[in-house]
Amino acid sequence: MKGVVLAGGLGSRLLPLTKVTNKHLLPVYNKPMIYYPIETLVRAGIEEILIVTGGNNAGEFLRLLGNGREFGLKHLNYTYQEGEGGIADALKLAEFFADDTPILVILGDNIIESDIRPAVDAFKQNPVGAKILIKEVPDPGRFGVAEILGDRIVGIEEKPENPKSSFVVTGIYMYDSKVFEIAKTLKPSSRGELEITDVNNHYIRAGHMHFEILEGWWTDAGTFESLFRANRLVAEKWITEV
Ligand code: DAU
Repeated sequence: MKGVVLAGGLGSRLLPLTKVTNKHLLPVYNKPMIYYPIETLVRAGIEEILIVTGGNNAGEFLRLLGNGREFGLKHLNYTYQEGEGGIADALKLAEFFADDTPILVILGDNIIESDIRPAVDAFKQNPVGAKILIKEVPDPGRFGVAEILGDRIVGIEEKPENPKSSFVVTGIYMYDSKVFEIAKTLKPSSRGELEITDVNNHYIRAGHMHFEILEGWWTDAGTFESLFRANRLVAEKWITEV
């Protein structure tokens, strides 16, 4: 399975930190943010990776990551998202790279503790529909929130005022090759973006969405609070492991 890291967007919630650099190049403890999602994909056994960059300083990704040798990769693929059209807009740029095969997608600001290889291997066995990893959090309202009935997710609401559960959709998604046809049908949301939640709801309505609960800690790093949390969690892990 091929992997895609979505690292476009302008990171406006982190201004002025993102005024002269790209959010995904900011440090999270001892590495640039983008290292973590790449390492997550490599740990999951992914060997072919596309980085979707965008916004400021996109050329710096190439300077930083090169051909991915530091991650044990033979080469890295890059593409550029113009503007900030949303996560699903960035994903559309991966169609040529995916070449009708299933993909594992990770958001460039998502950092996790555990190894997702078992979940990825299970999807690889039967790569039909989509699979998401969800996580219980104390502040669901700032994410995509899963409505769960029995053992099924029946809907996802993006940043709801009254969350229907405390389980949120992490930025780790597995899709079959139909995802690009679905992405082409999307209309911009009220915040002017093509939403990944609309892609996922499409799979839910079709009865083709699977999910697992992510083990270990998970955080995004797109706000001052979550960037600080990411730094703290990574530092604590690193210090305990050394
Ligand atoms: O972190 C998980 C959450 O990520 C999910 O629970 C939400 O359902 C999902 O919509 C997303 O929410 P955010 O509002 O936090 O996403 P954000 O705009 O911060 O974008 C996250 C990453 O996606 C960002 O680091 C890079 C990539 N991205 C984002 C946009 C808007 C792009 O590649 N291009 C874009 O245009």
